[in-house]
Amino acid sequence: MSIIFHEKTKEFHLTNGEISYIIEVMENGQIGQLYYGKALRDRDSFQELHEEKMRSLMSISLPEPSSLSMEFTRQEYPSYGTGDYRMPAVTIQQKNGSRICNFTYNSHEIFSGKKSLAPLPSTYVEQEDEADTLEISLCDQLTETDLILSYTIYRDYPVITRNARFFHRGKEAIILDRALSASVEFSDMNFEMVHLAGAWSRERYVKTRKLEMGIQSIQSLRGASSSEHNPFLALKRPDASEKQGEVYGFSFVYSGNFLAQVEVNTHEMTRVTMGIHPEMFSWELHAGESFQTPEVVMVYSHQGLNQMSQTYHGLYRKRLVRGEWRDKVRPVLLNNWEATYFDFNEESILKIAGKAKEAGAELFVLDDGWFGARNDDYRGLGDWYVNLEKLPNGIKGLSEKVEALGLKFGLWVELEMVNKDSDLYRKHPDWVIGAPGRFESHSRHQHVLDFSRKEVVDAIYEMISKIIRESKISYIKWDMNRYITEPFSRGGSPTDQGKMMHRYILGVYDLYTRLTTEFPHILFESCSSGGARFDPGMLAFAPQTWTSDDTDAGERMKIQYGTSYVYPLVSMGSHVSAVPNHQVYRKTPIATRADVAYFGTFGYELDLNLLTDEEFSQVKAQIAFMKKYRELIQIDGDFYRLVNPFEGNDTAWMVVSQDKKEAVAAFYQRMNKVNASWLRLKMEGLEPHTLYEITYVSGLANEEPVAVGRYFGDELMYAGMVIDRDELNRKGGDFSSVLYTLKAVEQ
Ligand code: DGJ
Repeated sequence: MSIIFHEKTKEFHLTNGEISYIIEVMENGQIGQLYYGKALRDRDSFQELHEEKMRSLMSISLPEPSSLSMEFTRQEYPSYGTGDYRMPAVTIQQKNGSRICNFTYNSHEIFSGKKSLAPLPSTYVEQEDEADTLEISLCDQLTETDLILSYTIYRDYPVITRNARFFHRGKEAIILDRALSASVEFSDMNFEMVHLAGAWSRERYVKTRKLEMGIQSIQSLRGASSSEHNPFLALKRPDASEKQGEVYGFSFVYSGNFLAQVEVNTHEMTRVTMGIHPEMFSWELHAGESFQTPEVVMVYSHQGLNQMSQTYHGLYRKRLVRGEWRDKVRPVLLNNWEATYFDFNEESILKIAGKAKEAGAELFVLDDGWFGARNDDYRGLGDWYVNLEKLPNGIKGLSEKVEALGLKFGLWVELEMVNKDSDLYRKHPDWVIGAPGRFESHSRHQHVLDFSRKEVVDAIYEMISKIIRESKISYIKWDMNRYITEPFSRGGSPTDQGKMMHRYILGVYDLYTRLTTEFPHILFESCSSGGARFDPGMLAFAPQTWTSDDTDAGERMKIQYGTSYVYPLVSMGSHVSAVPNHQVYRKTPIATRADVAYFGTFGYELDLNLLTDEEFSQVKAQIAFMKKYRELIQIDGDFYRLVNPFEGNDTAWMVVSQDKKEAVAAFYQRMNKVNASWLRLKMEGLEPHTLYEITYVSGLANEEPVAVGRYFGDELMYAGMVIDRDELNRKGGDFSSVLYTLKAVEQ
């Protein structure tokens, strides 16, 4: 059992040999934080870690001579109104208007395994001995509300997951105005905050800033986790780098509004809180009702950011993603979006699919434009029946023909949305989210269906499941192309309005649950104008996410690098697209485009019929390469970030197999350099005394991979491998890349 309870001192020590998380029941019954970090040997008491001291002006919430002040004590789930002036994890409103609460220890339970949070997504265990869970039950006596703080520590990962559950017993209803999932405190502020910020087509850029006194936070109020801020932040020590140093990661398993906040007080104490954003959240609880918060996944690393990422990758790939596709390599696909946009018919689609088959692809995906009157993005959303003018044989007929070519068939949907020019809207105008008497903002000419209402989710489920049932569908791309602007449910009471944003996400999870349960063989890829909903909540339902609408190789280096802070390569939708690129109009060599896309799910987003013979032969070789190495890249390997694109001209990364006998490494440059300095790429993750044969894969037409030499792991990691700048020039100069495979050989 990795959770120890010290009866006498009422301390809980969660440890798995790698990390320790130590908390206590304090004198006033609230839960205090003693330590979080690298594993400590257990001892009878850790009271020396409890910080308590008389200070002038401080308020003490216990009778004299106590010196316990909530203002200066690290807490586990702080509330406002018992002497702490920092931002709380919980706020409860009583009928008399009071917003004070005081949750004190009642009892606790320690058990093997981990409970499901369904209908919310969460990490899980397959065997009970993979993790232990501590549930601490607290009570606010006055309102008769119970709070269960739940902690799970994994046996094989430096991970603690947290969530909070409220259960109201009192006759008088209460309103939860703030119910975050976790709060963690540190005694000092010697940290930098790392987070992933962006926008459409430049999602998840890595941002790092030194903590300052006051509040620094990231958030979403958009109804989706958003491309602006990913629901993740890390605190790292200033000397921590990719390879070494202390890092604390916090990742939120949720797809809607969130708040991730770091507050530093003037005594340099740091409080991290994470949860559903309190704005637009107000949850009334009557006697017998409960509220479950989503999960926060906390990762501790003492070997830098890369180790933190590898922990998230392993956990999310194996114990967050579910279903048949979890452990499978992903099919090489061709998606027609950038090839045709809305302008296609059955014949043109079959021509594109046929060429994809010839190249070696395994799945053809029909993107937007196949339904209703959807000939542009002004109309049709909500009408989930086929446009027979474009596709006279329906999706059924088309999918059968695509399968007859020897490809699987995939379909695009955007189930949460509606255009006003649609049969669905004409029939149910009140199903759109929007407030009475207010203008309804539009975005991409579309509106959000009120998924907080069951009847809306039911209707969409009926429409789409019919199409899926009657056709041969192996893959679904579930898109979502606008945020919620005027959150109001026309089907709800006044008190329902504060529940609407969360219920919307529960509606999305409900539809995902129904579809993934009824169609377990289908591979789902979530998407939101590219990567505006790339979050752990979505990954629990859809094992892969379209990383960004920006398919330019140069831009993707940054986007995929940032995304890899939390998310495994196998979850990143990555395609080779046409040049000039449709987002930045840049021309990059087709070899570079593939060299970037290999580090993800891999596919194409162009019409292969338009390529030259030379390019087509390159594509064939690329697909063959990916098929050979995808088990290593997507399933088996550990990902190492080697050179950071946010710091300069170059990018490099590599994947090393678990047994360290195989690896794939790539180096990319943006601008070419003249008369440049020597370039040595220091690899990572290899076995120092193993001899590796290195093969260079140029990716150019009619060039077979060539052996470039044999080197020991120590040379490759500590001295580095020389990258030949002339080779980068030969391959196209700007935006060129080199790709190497490594294989352990006998000495
Ligand atoms: C946004 C997605 O990110 C694109 O890949 C494409 O599916 C379009 N929507 C279709 O409208």
